[in-house]
Amino acid sequence: AAQEAIPGYAYGQPTLAQAPYTASDLAALQKTMLFSDEDIQALRQSKAILADQTDAILDVWYGFVASTPELLVYFSDAKTGQADPAYLAAVRKRFAQWILDTADARFDQDWLNWQYEIGLRHTHHKKNKTDGASSVPQVHFRYLVGLTIPITTTLKPFLGNKGASAEEVEKMHAAWVKAVLLQVILWSQPYIREGAF
Ligand code: HEM
Repeated sequence: AAQEAIPGYAYGQPTLAQAPYTASDLAALQKTMLFSDEDIQALRQSKAILADQTDAILDVWYGFVASTPELLVYFSDAKTGQADPAYLAAVRKRFAQWILDTADARFDQDWLNWQYEIGLRHTHHKKNKTDGASSVPQVHFRYLVGLTIPITTTLKPFLGNKGASAEEVEKMHAAWVKAVLLQVILWSQPYIREGAF
């Protein structure tokens, strides 16, 4: 599902490197996280609910980052410390697509390769390169794990905005928590000492 329309978006592009983890590594991780078919169904159910709310969701997520100086530094010019609006805007387009991709819950080889690439883009290997930004060279690892909480907590009201039952909202929310944490775990690979991931 390559989409040339979003600059820098590369899901499904053959130029992506092969992920250093396999489909069976993924399955074992999902098993460990109690990630089930029910979670896949719940994620897919969330897609139609979230599809026309991605802009509003991103307003909340970006509002959180913008109002948290400790996070905004990663979107700011490394020399001046000024937030970089072009960088923020470029990443935001791909972030909107990421909401839909996460809800699709495809988990194929292209998806694994794309997770690897997203991870690299948070590290010194590839941060800033996609958008030609002049920001700091890496997002420090601890914040990746930490951001799972505000991302999934603030998503929850959006899951309830289209008439799903409270029980369905709980299931979709639980699935989203797992799906985001799962991705953060995969993204962590380039941060982890060789052989320890
Ligand atoms: C890029 C999600 C944690 C800063 C991205 C992208 C996504 C994403 C979807 C776009 C990837 C692409 O298509 O190129 C997430 C999620 C996180 C997380 C779900 C945690 C649950 C963080 C944290 C920061 C951060 C804690 C620190 C502020 C960035 C930056 C980029 C980026 C600066 C652009 C990287 C580049 O130069 O290519 N993130 N992120 N992210 N994220 Fe995160």
